[in-house]
Amino acid sequence: MARPREAPRSDLGARRHPHDGRAADLKPATTLEAILAVNIAEEEAAIRGYTEILESLSMSNVILFQTIQEIIRDEQEHFEELDALKNPKT
Ligand SMILES: [Fe+2]
Repeated sequence: MARPREAPRSDLGARRHPHDGRAADLKPATTLEAILAVNIAEEEAAIRGYTEILESLSMSNVILFQTIQEIIRDEQEHFEELDALKNPKT
């Protein structure tokens, strides 16, 4: 009887998703400036997290590589939108 193949090991599943929220990680903010600062920091953390994931991937996994690149672009867009709110043009 053939033994079932073992799935390839990866630590990606053990990583914390960059946008996972935990109650202990929540930062209270009561002013617009503080709310923006918290959200901008979260977008930066997401960009760093997804970049770390991207750097761990083989480029031969084209679809996953491109998907993570698209997510990073989205996170950069979120960052830029929030950052622009800090100094709105009048
Ligand atoms: Fe985001």
